[in-house]
Formats: sequence, structure tokens, C-alpha cells
Amino acid sequence: MPHFLEIFRTDANDLRRIIAAAKSMKSARLGLPKAALDQKRPLAGHMIALIFEKPSTRTRVSFDVGVRQLGGETIVLSRNDMQLGHGETIADSARVLSRYVDLIVLRTFEEAVIHEMAEYATVPVINGLTNRTHPCQVMADVMTFEEHRGSLADKKVVWVGDGTNVCASFLQASAKFDFKLTYCGPTELRPDDEFVNFAVAAGAAVTFERDIERAMDGADLVVTDTWISMHDSKDTSSEREALLRPYQVTEAVMRLAKADALFMHCLPAHRGEEVTSDVMDGSQSVIWDEAENRLHVQKAIMRWCLNQ
Ligand code: CP
Repeated sequence: MPHFLEIFRTDANDLRRIIAAAKSMKSARLGLPKAALDQKRPLAGHMIALIFEKPSTRTRVSFDVGVRQLGGETIVLSRNDMQLGHGETIADSARVLSRYVDLIVLRTFEEAVIHEMAEYATVPVINGLTNRTHPCQVMADVMTFEEHRGSLADKKVVWVGDGTNVCASFLQASAKFDFKLTYCGPTELRPDDEFVNFAVAAGAAVTFERDIERAMDGADLVVTDTWISMHDSKDTSSEREALLRPYQVTEAVMRLAKADALFMHCLPAHRGEEVTSDVMDGSQSVIWDEAENRLHVQKAIMRWCLNQ
């Protein structure tokens, strides 16, 4: 069953094919008249369940729009709409949903939930974010870098700040797309060793650098994320902020990277916390392209899952 659960579980050639298909669909959409596009409806007759146990703007809208552009239909469900998490087991929900829909996109809390859904579903499951990983985001980020600067292979990516679920997926991607990844942030908020060890064992060049000036030297891509993620306790916010304050991405920090370095953020951002507005809105920022490319890359992921 071709689930899309974590980047490290998908063959590197398939990941490349997905990004190529996403670029091709994006070009077609920009260049072809709408009538021609409407004739290409590879998901016609397919029903896609979009299940969100946590809030979402980009993932929810981009999947919903993507399915419609491909000719399919969606049913969007929140935690309150379903028995999932209210007593019915994940396995039973997976078995039932598989009788109704052709593909399940799930945003949930625990990584174990998405793996249990995939184990018992008889249709493909796509990870729309868990507390530990966010593979669709990082596929869009790889596509975005390639559009602006060409291949990521051998490039230096610097992750600044909290080692979040997006950082974990970047670590997995570093092994698949052969880029160097430097984590620059407080030791307490480093990404889990499991992700680091996987990337290193798979041959990726992963380094840790607490000093932001040294970390940014030679950076081709600078990435950060919010200091308080959806699953973090608000009780610890001031302690986290104190740890993370030296790692705010400012224009001065961006000047330490290569002159043509790009800036990325998965969004939503807290302007003035992890990044300043002048960087978000500056010439090196590609955040809106990242958000747009969620649409294109997820269309390609869905087609890969459904072999369409
Ligand atoms: N980046 C991202 O996944 O955004 P949403 O939480 O709005 O879906």
C-alpha cells in the first residue's frame, strides 16, 4: 500500500518523481487554458477524506483545492465530527473509512495514530502533520528551493531555533536529497536523536552549532519555525522563549549566510518572535512559494498514492 507517512519510508526515486510531477502540474496550470486542464481529471470518481484533529489553514485548503483540481471529491472532518479519539479504536476507524473513501489524509497528534491508521486502512494514508513529522511540508520546501536555486544536493541548509516536526522531516529529507543540514539552536530543543541517527546512518552530513554566526557561514537555505508549536504546553512558553531568543532570524542573521541564501518558514509565523517581518517580507524569503507548492506537491503525492 503506497502510504505517504514519512519521507524516510519513501524511495528516493519516488520522491524525485513526485517533485517532478508537481513541477509539471504547476507549469501546466500556469500555461494551459482552464478548459484543457478540466479534461485531465485523474481523481475523477475518487473520494478523499481529509481528517484534521488539529487546526490547519494551508494543509486543509491546499489538499481540498488539489483534489478538486484533479477531479475528485473531498469530505473534510474534524475531531469533533468523528468517533476517532472518542472511544472507537484507530484500527476500527481505519477499517470503516476504507469502505467509504479511496484515500485518507490525516493530521493528528501522536505519530503512532497515523501508523495505526495506515496499518489497518485498506486505502492509502497521507501524513498531514503529526507532533513528530510534517513530510508534505518538506516536499514543498525541496520543490521551492529547486525552483529558485536548482538541486539541493550538497547545499547547506541551516535549521534555526526549535527542532520541531518540520525539522525532523528536514533531517529525513537530508538523507534522501543529499543536502547538508546544520541544526542551530539550544541543546534542550534539539531534534530527537532518532531522526538525527537515521539521517547520519543514511549518509547525511548533519552538524550541530550553537553559535549562530558560525552556523550561518556558507548557508544556502535558512529555515525556522514557531517557538510554540500546536502541541507545546503554554506553561513552558516563557522558558522556551528565553532559550530561543538568541536564535531569532533577523536581517543581520541573514547577512551572515551566502548572499543568495533563501529563507523559508512553513507558516503560520509569529512575526517578531522566531523571525522578523523584514526577513519574512524581504527579497530572500520564498515563504509564499512554499505555501503555494503545498498544493502542487500534494497533488503529486495523492496521484502517486493512487497510481493515477
Ligand atoms: N504549514 C502548515 O502545515 O500550515 P497549516 O498548519 O496552516 O496547515
